[in-house]
Amino acid sequence: MTENTFPPARILGVESSCDETAAAVVENGRTVLSNVVASQAEMHAKYGGVFPEVASRQHIRTVYTVVEEALAQAHLSLGDIDAIAATQGPGLPGSLVVGLNMAKGLALGSGKPLIGVHHLEGHLYSGWIDDSANGGEPKPEPTFPLIALLVSGGHTELVLIKDHLTYERLGGTLDDAAGEAFDKVARMLGLGYPGGPKIQQAAVGGNPAAFKFPRAWLEDTWNFSFSGLKTSVLHQIRKLREELGEGPEDETVTLPVADLSASFQMAVVDVLVTKARYAAQEFKAKELLIAGGVSANKLLREMISKDTNGVVHIPPIHYCTDNAAMIAAAGYYRFVHGHKTELDIDALPTWPLDELPASP
Ligand code: KG4
Ligand code: ZN
Repeated sequence: MTENTFPPARILGVESSCDETAAAVVENGRTVLSNVVASQAEMHAKYGGVFPEVASRQHIRTVYTVVEEALAQAHLSLGDIDAIAATQGPGLPGSLVVGLNMAKGLALGSGKPLIGVHHLEGHLYSGWIDDSANGGEPKPEPTFPLIALLVSGGHTELVLIKDHLTYERLGGTLDDAAGEAFDKVARMLGLGYPGGPKIQQAAVGGNPAAFKFPRAWLEDTWNFSFSGLKTSVLHQIRKLREELGEGPEDETVTLPVADLSASFQMAVVDVLVTKARYAAQEFKAKELLIAGGVSANKLLREMISKDTNGVVHIPPIHYCTDNAAMIAAAGYYRFVHGHKTELDIDALPTWPLDELPASP
């Protein structure tokens, strides 16, 4: 286990890339002093997904209070903070600018450095968070090289982390992200938004082998594809409606939602876990890390840690879905490696993971 040999620093993180307004204070990249998340999920539920205009306006309403609350819960003022890290991208343009501008204002007013953080780098660094100061299990620091499976609403990425801030993107989804597939299938089953937790809940007691949904292995690549699976669930629903009711569109039919959810969930998790483990073998990584909203999934958490000799880093659930502690953690490693961002930076809504600046 490598011990942190970097200088101590307290980072204030701000995150507003999608529908969570969040701020957190993290010490030395690992210890969470506060973690405040204002979720808008309920506001978007009636639209069946995130409504960008609503998200942006809600961020404006809450960002100031959320930052104040994060400092208050950490019993600190801005003067005690060493740098301010904010999500610069990728994400919704109108959402990103709110947190980023808040952070710019704080940096300008306090004279503290600003660090623009890549949202996915934030998710990766959720694997470094040690929540033992808040009653969680103490967590060893990940050691390199490690394979990260990053699965969220917008991304499905398999990444080789060679060292701090040094990544090789091995592959990713060719179509839908894993979380997006959960969200879309949940909508087809009338389960609502966000789909991941709804499917997980609906799958309890369901038979994961009830329906033989396809797995896109995409052999000889580290890529993923979930759109075929999604279409297959749709065909199955239509077939069941035809068999049990008046026709493929008959919404009065009571679907076997538990079996459909369990079978779909197993098909997604099976591919994710199998490929991540192969990658660990192939790249001689002794450790695996899962991150992103979908890594909150109970089945994924169970299956990735089953029958393995290697270490698997599984962040506590509240650091899997969007939060600012992960942004502050990533910001810390950027800060101690000498990264500093100019105050006139723009939000980067489509910033690819492989265009991150390497360690200087
Ligand atoms: O990382 P995240 O909070 O936001 C993005 O950066 O996209 O991920 C949100 C995604 C959504 O698609 C949501 O349905 C999914 O994570 N998710 C889950 C679970 N909790 C959240 N998917 C499967 N099982 C869960 N328990
Ligand atoms: Zn995210």
